[in-house]
Parts: sequence; structure tokens; C-alpha cells
Amino acid sequence: MALSLSFWTRFFVHQLEKSSGINLPPGKMGFPFIGESLEFLRMGRKGTPERFIQDRMAKYSTQIFKTCLLGEPTAVVCGAAGNKLLFSNENKLVTSWSPRSVERIFLSSRQTSTKEESMKTRKLLPGFLKPEALQKYVGIMDSIAKWHLDNHWDLNETVTVFPLAKQYTFMVACRLFLSIDDPKHIAKFANPFHILAAGVMSIPINFPGTPFNRAIKAANTVRKELRAIIKQRKINVLAGKSSSSKHDILSHMLTTTDENGQFLNEMDIADKILGLLIGGHDTASAVITFIIKYLAELPQVYNEVLKEQIEVAAGKQSGEMLDWEDIQKMKYSWNVANEVMRLAPPLQGSFREAVTDFTYAGFSIPKGWKLYWSTNATHKNPDYFPDPEKFDPSRFEGNGPIPYTYVPFGGGPRMCPGKEYARLEILVFIHNVVRRFSWYKLHPNEDVIVDPMPMPAKGLPIRLRHH
Ligand code: HEM
Repeated sequence: MALSLSFWTRFFVHQLEKSSGINLPPGKMGFPFIGESLEFLRMGRKGTPERFIQDRMAKYSTQIFKTCLLGEPTAVVCGAAGNKLLFSNENKLVTSWSPRSVERIFLSSRQTSTKEESMKTRKLLPGFLKPEALQKYVGIMDSIAKWHLDNHWDLNETVTVFPLAKQYTFMVACRLFLSIDDPKHIAKFANPFHILAAGVMSIPINFPGTPFNRAIKAANTVRKELRAIIKQRKINVLAGKSSSSKHDILSHMLTTTDENGQFLNEMDIADKILGLLIGGHDTASAVITFIIKYLAELPQVYNEVLKEQIEVAAGKQSGEMLDWEDIQKMKYSWNVANEVMRLAPPLQGSFREAVTDFTYAGFSIPKGWKLYWSTNATHKNPDYFPDPEKFDPSRFEGNGPIPYTYVPFGGGPRMCPGKEYARLEILVFIHNVVRRFSWYKLHPNEDVIVDPMPMPAKGLPIRLRHH
């Protein structure tokens, strides 16, 4: 069925161009059904996702080209103007769209779409991610970072960073989203997430053994666990054992009503928390891993970060936890994190759908076509970032990059709502790790793969030097 649909899509695209003279963007649609998805994924696995975009920009157009990704005809926008078009025309020319694989994995019910669900989630999040709430999390994140380093780093001479960074961000998410802090419970809960993350951007072929099939099963396992946690919380609240005003996102979801005054049901809450746990921990752990990698490679940058963090620590009493004001002082460290996200953005881009026919850069975009914006198209473009492969945190000083060129969190109304939360957990971790250790890489030339997040191929094993 999918194959024949795809054949007709390609046939239709061809006929559309031929018969109506409609000027679609240049580019090619690739193979039936999979289009150019394999090439797109293959470039990522080789650690050069930008090549997919750059090759086509050189061949077809520096502004926009057409392709077929994950079974859909797609126009890829390539520059600041393209990003601006998508970010500032939400619900006018475009609307958010998720690949079928994402819909199928993240939604337990087929009655709804990720678009509707993400609108609902966005409404719920401000209460949880607003500045007053975020301020309270800094101390909690600090105590988790300390516990994590005491238990997983301090006793070792070598560590593998990527899995440990995931453990840290997952522990923060479990604590702040669900008030779970038992490490055994967290470890059990974490396993299916690795499988799930690997299947999110896979080709949606649901046969036993495919990454997509494994991800669906893993999502069901996590949902089951989440529903058990939700049920128990409800029982505790009713029995007066747990305060419904507990500061976590679960209690926020249990006590908030939608526009019709209805409470969310358990399944809805489980779906939303599943999405947040995936979006909210894998991304930040990739950033932490690449910060450790670059600090190993660039001792002068490491020294500057250490200097800044020692100054922050000097203003604290012994045993006093970090707070919101401390985070505001970590300017250089945040510039380093920004430069890391320029060179190794956790998300490679995201899709939109055209809600109407429109033209861009002289090319027609038919209603229903998908559009894709890519972090790599601008982050690695020398017009926006001179000497783009050079690691240079000073790019973020002063006014910083030109608008719509630096987009690790997207932009416009759909910009990542977890940006500030991520900033806190990343900076808190840097503060703790540089003050305890310096390090060097055990595999100086370790490859990087992007599948779908960037990661060092061996997980970044390092040798620690305790200060
Ligand atoms: C360094 C870490 C992170 C990066 C780089 C990142 C990046 C992004 C990007 C690029 C998008 C898509 C925007 C678009 O489609 O235009 C997004 C969406 C989203 N992010 Fe993040 N994210 C990070 C951390 C987080 C965290 C910690 C949370 C939750 C606490 C979170 C929650 C979300 C949600 C719910 C959406 C969907 C928003 C919508 O559909 O409107 N993210 N993120």
C-alpha cells in the first residue's frame, strides 16, 4: 500500500510539473517510497549530515531544493531567509508536521495528531517551565549533578561520557517531571528509551526487528510504566499521602484543565510525558557530551571555562547549592555550549506542512507539501559563520549571529519550549565537572555519527585527572 501510494505521489509530482508548468523547486525525488531518505540517513551515520544539504545546495539552489524524505515530497529551505519564512508563517503558510514514524511512536491513540497534541502540550508547559519554576530547579539539578559525579565519575580513572551524560539528564528529568529519585527505578525505566530514540527518525516499516518496530514496542513499555506511576500518584493524592501541589510536571498535568474544563486522561498524560522525556533528555546529554569532547581538544577553552566556574564557586558558602543568579554569571560557559550546538546541533532540523499554495524564491510550493529546515544549512555556512569548522565561542559575544542563522532550538512560535531548562542543566553540569576534573580523550580520532542525534562512535571514553 505504502509503495503504491509513493509511486502515485512521484507520478503526480511529475505530471504536476509537466502539465501545469508549475515551477517546483529543483532537485530529485529519489527511489520509490524511500525517496532520498537512505542517503539522508547515511550522511548522518557518516557524521556529516550537512553534506546532504550542502551537496544539493551546490547542485540545485542555495535557497531551496526538492527531495522525498520519509515517504513525503519535501522542499528543503537552506538559508536565513528560508528559516525566517517557516518560523514567521506558522498557521499562515505552514503548520507543524511530524513524520509518520513519530506520530506512530508518540501517540497511543490514532484519534489525534502530534500537531494537536503539541499544541496542548505547549499550553501546559509554561506553568512548568516559567522562570519562577525554573529558578527552583537549579538547586535540585546541582544536587543531582553532585550525586552523579560522586557515584559515577569520582571513583574511576576512565569513564565513557555519552551514556553517563544521558544518565544525568534522565535523572534530572525523572526527578523534575515525575518526582522519581530512586536510581534503581530510574535505571529500569531508562532502558527502553535508548531503543525508542533510535527508531524516531527511522523509515516507518513495521516488521519485527526493524528499528521502527522496536521503537513502537519500547514506547508501549514506557507508557505502561508511566500509567502505573500516574495511577499511584492519583491514589496518593486522594489518600492525602502526596500533595497535589508537588512541584513536578505530572502534578501540573493532573491538576490542569483544558479549554473545556476537562482534566487530561491518563493516556494523554502518559503520551505527553513520554514526548517530554525523549525531547528533554537526549538533546541536552548530546550537548554535554560534545562540550566534554571540545574541552578535551581545546585546553585554552577549558581553562577559560574553569576560571569562570571557580569565580562562581568563590561567591558561594561551602555546601551551598547553585542558584539562578549563579547561572547568569556563566556567560563564557554558555557561549561555549552555543558554539558546541552550532557545530553539533542535537536536532538536525524539523518539518512543516504547507497549508496553502505559495511561492518562495521563485518556486512553487503546493499545499500539502512538506518543508524541512535544517540547522546545518546555516550553522556551517561560511557566509554566516566565517571559517565555520573553527571552534570559536566569541561568535556569541555582543549581538551574536545574524538573526535566523543560529537555530539549534528552532525559532518563532514553535521554538523549543525547553531551551531555558536545557541551559540550566547543561551549565550546572559544566560547573561541577570542570571543578573536579580535567580529562583527555582515550581515542583522539574517534568518529562522530548522527543517528538521529550526534554522538561519538565509541561514546567518548576519557581518562580523568582529579584536581
Ligand atoms: C539542548 C537541548 C535542546 C535542543 C537543542 C532542543 C531543540 C528543539 C528543536 C529544534 C525543536 C523543534 C522546533 C521546531 O520544530 O521549529 C524542539 C521542540 C521541542 N522541544 Fe526541545 N530542545 C532541547 C531541549 C528540550 C527540553 C529540555 C525540553 C523539555 C523540558 C524540550 C521540549 C521540547 C518540546 C515539547 C518541543 C515541541 C514544541 C512544539 O511542538 O511546539 N526540549 N526542541
